Amino acid sequence: LNKPPFVHNHYSEKEENDEKTNKKKKKKKKEKEAKEPMVGPFSVFRFADSLDILMLLVGTVMAIANGVVLPLMCIVFGDMTDSLVNSASSNTSATPPSEYSYITVIYSVVIAHFILIQIIKRSHLGLFLCEQLLTNFTTKEQSAYAKAGAVAEEVLSAIRTVFAFSGQKKEIERYHKNLENAKTMGIRKAVSANIAMGFTFLMIDLSYALAFWYGSTLILSGEYTIGSVLTVFFVVIIGVFAMGQTSPNIQTFASARGAAYKVYNIIDHNPTIDSYSETGFKPDLIKGNIEFSNIHFSYPSRPDVTILDQMCLSVSSGQTMALVGSSGCGKSTTIQLLQRFYDPQEGSVSDVFILNIHWLRSQIGIVSQEPVLFNCTLAENIAYGDNSRKVTMEEIEAAAKSANIHSFIDELPQKYNTQAGDKGTQLSGGQKQRIAIARAILRNPKVLLLDEATSALDTESEKVVQEALDQASKGRTCIIVAHRLSTIRNADRIAVFQRGVVVEQGTHQQLLAKKGVYHMLVTTQLGHGTE
Ligand SMILES: Nc1ncnc2c1ncn2[C@@H]1O[C@H](COP(=O)(O)OP(=O)(O)OP(=O)(O)O)[C@@H](O)[C@H]1O
Ligand SMILES: [Mg+2]
Repeated sequence: LNKPPFVHNHYSEKEENDEKTNKKKKKKKKEKEAKEPMVGPFSVFRFADSLDILMLLVGTVMAIANGVVLPLMCIVFGDMTDSLVNSASSNTSATPPSEYSYITVIYSVVIAHFILIQIIKRSHLGLFLCEQLLTNFTTKEQSAYAKAGAVAEEVLSAIRTVFAFSGQKKEIERYHKNLENAKTMGIRKAVSANIAMGFTFLMIDLSYALAFWYGSTLILSGEYTIGSVLTVFFVVIIGVFAMGQTSPNIQTFASARGAAYKVYNIIDHNPTIDSYSETGFKPDLIKGNIEFSNIHFSYPSRPDVTILDQMCLSVSSGQTMALVGSSGCGKSTTIQLLQRFYDPQEGSVSDVFILNIHWLRSQIGIVSQEPVLFNCTLAENIAYGDNSRKVTMEEIEAAAKSANIHSFIDELPQKYNTQAGDKGTQLSGGQKQRIAIARAILRNPKVLLLDEATSALDTESEKVVQEALDQASKGRTCIIVAHRLSTIRNADRIAVFQRGVVVEQGTHQQLLAKKGVYHMLVTTQLGHGTE
């Protein structure tokens, strides 16, 4: 208690300092632990074939031969200098040998200096020496540029949305902010690179001075000949350069090991659902009975949120089943389970699990909620429905006619060779849907899945397309998702979803008579005049 305050302060300061150093140590440790994972040095060559290995071996031998030549030349050069000096001193005895030593050394210094400057310029040795320092700045600069690039890409791909919400100024600012970071990093990098470069040259010049001073002392004392001093000098310098030159190669190798870790992780990943798997049944004939029993499912990205809970649903062969319910209740998810894009955590989808995945998908025709068109011609987009064979133009036209899109395509200047644009941007929503329907029909599938397939069509074309779909669904098992309940009135069965559970099932009439959830949905829609 009586301690003078400064003593107390002193202790606490020390404690604080200790704590700080501890924290720093911990941080360093963490940084070390968080070092990028790499594969072993030999694993990098995991996929090298015998030709690659042969090339690597030949390259290594050649590199060694190439490296040995220069030091060998230095020995020759040293010997040559010795013999020149000896013959000169034996011819003219008036000049003492020590003067020859000085003259030769001075000449050698000048020559050596020029040679070395050339080597330095060519090999960018200065940059190699400060590479560690620069790597950090380069990484930060690159990631800043990458961020700015990502902003530009995002904005350009959604340019209409940006203009629609007058977000230009905001986006320009966001881009500038990221560029500013890149600029700061670039300036820091340049400043430190040049300081490091200057320091490197200073060190090189100082080491010349030391080597020549000590070399001439050895020559004067008669311990070394001029030739051997020059040989040692050059060989040491060449050795240092050679080591400097390995540094970028070592770094390239290290980044290859890091990259290989990520790539190998993907290559070695064994998906639970393997689209290329050869296992599973490929029956010649399927009936098309589908039975979901006690499905419990949540998406891998959100495992805590249950999407389907104890869901049961059965569709018999040739039947049309309609799925209705509010947005986000799991209708599209059910369809994805049938295509085996995911497997449920509990429960089973009968027959689907034992079938070969590729074969299963080849039996299913789908028009998804957001139809995706590719940036190729309309004919190619429709022909995408069957990739197992060459589709004829007649088939494409027949499918387009069924989907009520043929007359539209026929009026286009380039007809079926019209480009769909990136993601089908050159078509309206309804036209895209009809192309997707034509694609599904062309496949002639056993099971037809329609997820809001006609939602973007006007009543008139919907009627025509609906008729085509009714035709197409004959003799097939069909699952339809629709918000507009008028379109599914004729379905054999209707399943009403509520938060991932099927709460009601039956025909339109049965469900109306029940006066439950379906009845409420229908009356609400009627009330809003959507029907
Ligand atoms: N890839 C995903 N990862 C995580 N959650 C998802 C994913 N896809 C969908 N969900 C969630 O799953 C729930 C059900 O989605 P689903 O697409 O099946 O709804 P839906 O019944 O088809 O709705 P809508 O009528 O609006 O199309 C939603 O709450 C959605 O947020
Ligand atoms: Mg959906």
